[in-house]
Amino acid sequence: MKIISVVGARPNFMKVAPFIEAIQQHNSSGAGEAVDHLLVHTGQHYDDRMSDLFFEELGIPRPDLNLNVGSGTHAEQVGHTMIKLEKVLMDERPDWVVVLGDVNATIACSLAAKKLGIKVCHIEAGLRSRDMDMPEEINRIVTDRLSDLLLTPDRMAIENLKKEGVPDSSIAFVGNIMIDTLHRNKPEADKRNVNEIIQRNILAGQPALTRKFKGKDYIVVTLHRPSNVDHQDVIEPILDFFKDEVVKRQSIFWPIHPRTRVKLKEYGLLDEVLSHPDIYLLEPLGYLDMLRMNSTASLILTDSGGLQEESTVLQIPCLTMRWNTERPVTLKEHGGASSLVGNDVTKIRNQYLKDIETAPVKEVPELWDGQTANRCLESILKAHNGYLHA
Ligand code: UD1
Repeated sequence: MKIISVVGARPNFMKVAPFIEAIQQHNSSGAGEAVDHLLVHTGQHYDDRMSDLFFEELGIPRPDLNLNVGSGTHAEQVGHTMIKLEKVLMDERPDWVVVLGDVNATIACSLAAKKLGIKVCHIEAGLRSRDMDMPEEINRIVTDRLSDLLLTPDRMAIENLKKEGVPDSSIAFVGNIMIDTLHRNKPEADKRNVNEIIQRNILAGQPALTRKFKGKDYIVVTLHRPSNVDHQDVIEPILDFFKDEVVKRQSIFWPIHPRTRVKLKEYGLLDEVLSHPDIYLLEPLGYLDMLRMNSTASLILTDSGGLQEESTVLQIPCLTMRWNTERPVTLKEHGGASSLVGNDVTKIRNQYLKDIETAPVKEVPELWDGQTANRCLESILKAHNGYLHA
């Protein structure tokens, strides 16, 4: 049996790592049919810090092929990916194409595969924000509509798919594959020192680090969504909140996404943040450094879906700077660690003041147990052999 897995952007890398490991273990066990696996990188994220570093740290084999699509508009990224992947699929003729998450590679590759009559498996199926202004929501809906096998991270995702008419036989509840990576790498990340991480990654042009951080005395910020960073009237009041209020209690560590850095410069705000003594802008962090920083943060403020999930497992309060989420299982009302605060400063402040006083949550969602990748592979093998899921 031949599988091609496709990755394109940073959040895909931590999802594919345990899946490849599961295939390697399956093949070396000698049990059942061997899996011939090829890894394709679309090249959407191409900087060393957004891509190569993750391959190295997570032990992901070098991609067999890189489509080098790079940056561009959504139509350019999706279109170039489809054209280039179609050729690969026609040459390689895999039985299955496995796509992950909700990035442009996910929609482009499921579409290219399906049009060639190749079966598609979507890992992280069924998540819905119901916000069609998000490119990721469009990617999720189209990918799920095209997929032959839909592997979900939680039970709410199963309900979403059923409501859309997906037959039970195409759905399997496998858990959250990214949490496999978290479990595997936590011991190694824990050995790292927060102060060294900051020193190694601090963006040039900032005052040298003079204090020593012990943990629980800083918050971690990550922002990259166009709805938050592409509008000066949204991001500027948030920066004021950091400068006027948050830093009185804690320092801020902010690994900055390339898009956000460009935008802050464009608005003339970058130098002011760089020169602030308690706000540390960092280069995009590798997986282990980020996990270490998050593990002892007193709070995380983010617009990343992945961080919402990690904060729930790490039991660190998370302010999610969005008005909706495709990951409701991570919200406090469902036992998670995250609260939706949108990008309204009053809402952010109120939740921030509550969260720095309250004890963390104690629940971890069902099947977020580090074994998801094995269940993914098992489901694909069963589907390949015509077994219908219960
Ligand atoms: C993409 C994903 C998003 C994910 C995010 C994580 C889609 C639709 N979006 O958004 O779901 O949460 O990745 O990072 O696929 N850039 C670089 N170097 C790189 C990559 C990008 O400088 O290695 C710059 C590009 O020039 C571009 C900007 O960052 O202008 C945004 O990159 P892009 O890949 O278009 O989308 P993301 O915002 O990263």
